[in-house]
Amino acid sequence: MPSEILYTSVNARTKLLCVLGNPISHSLSPQVMNALISFYNLNFFYLAFAANDLEKAIDGLKEIKFLGANITIPFKEKILPLCDSVDPAVEEIKAINTIYFDGEKLQGYNTDIDGIRSALVNCIDQIDRYAVFGAGGAARALCVALKSKSGILVNRTEAKGKKLAKEFGLEYISLSNSTKFMQDIDLIVNATPVGMAGQTVSTIVPLSWIKKCTFVFDMVYNPSVTRLVEQANEYHKKVISGETMFLGQAAKAFSIWTRLEPSLEIMMSIWREITHE
Ligand SMILES: NC(=O)c1ccc[n+]([C@@H]2O[C@H](COP(=O)([O-])OP(=O)(O)OC[C@H]3O[C@@H](n4cnc5c(N)ncnc54)[C@H](OP(=O)(O)O)[C@@H]3O)[C@@H](O)[C@H]2O)c1
Repeated sequence: MPSEILYTSVNARTKLLCVLGNPISHSLSPQVMNALISFYNLNFFYLAFAANDLEKAIDGLKEIKFLGANITIPFKEKILPLCDSVDPAVEEIKAINTIYFDGEKLQGYNTDIDGIRSALVNCIDQIDRYAVFGAGGAARALCVALKSKSGILVNRTEAKGKKLAKEFGLEYISLSNSTKFMQDIDLIVNATPVGMAGQTVSTIVPLSWIKKCTFVFDMVYNPSVTRLVEQANEYHKKVISGETMFLGQAAKAFSIWTRLEPSLEIMMSIWREITHE
């Protein structure tokens, strides 16, 4: 029984972790992190909170001595000024998804970039040109990870898309125009929520682009097989899954809090257990 597990493993010395976001009920982080905690037999516990006021939430975590937290939408940028120090990756990405309370000092990290790097590890050398759909925090982390490559950025909101494209030397194409252009690209990345469970539009990438590329990376990980992934499979493209990125960023966050470094194999086996795949 789950209650028996709680009675025997949670006590007055348990170190607390959580994810802060809003909404948060869809998050799979509690299952993944608690499975890792259990795997390493640590006296830790990981929760999820839907906060309204980030500053008050952080003060609360500090006051009751949380060890750290994951930070998700809509707080990834808002958390920046609340940190006492940030990791160099944060300076470039300008967003934080992991915090660590070092005594009274709050340290900020971005582990999405670690997730992206682990997802792309086997194909990075084969990529010259890439196309990214989206201009939010995840797209920015991708641009930082692929800084040495050239490419195209497609976004719904022109001003936001143009700004990010300019910063990373990419060509901007508006979403409404994207079907008109045939692009020679090695890697296509969806860094928007399009394709996620509950979204009305199922895909954002023109089929003509998919047909010409080599790799397709969908950052969406719920469902694990999105319409974009289905189309990429239909055309025998090499698919990079959002799950690999999710598990890579989770593993890095876990190592910031615990100094333990779970391998991708451990992460994948935990993932299969949680998702019953
Ligand atoms: N696998 C992982 O570990 C992982 C980690 C982080 C994020 N993600 C995925 O990446 C997605 C983006 O995350 P984020 O942090 O970058 O979010 P974000 O900062 O809110 O940015 C979202 C981007 O998606 C675009 N967008 C949103 N809805 C759209 C729609 N219906 N049609 C076209 N474009 C749309 C937005 O365009 P506008 O500029 O026009 O608003 C914006 O550029 C998430 O939803 C998630 O699926 C995955």
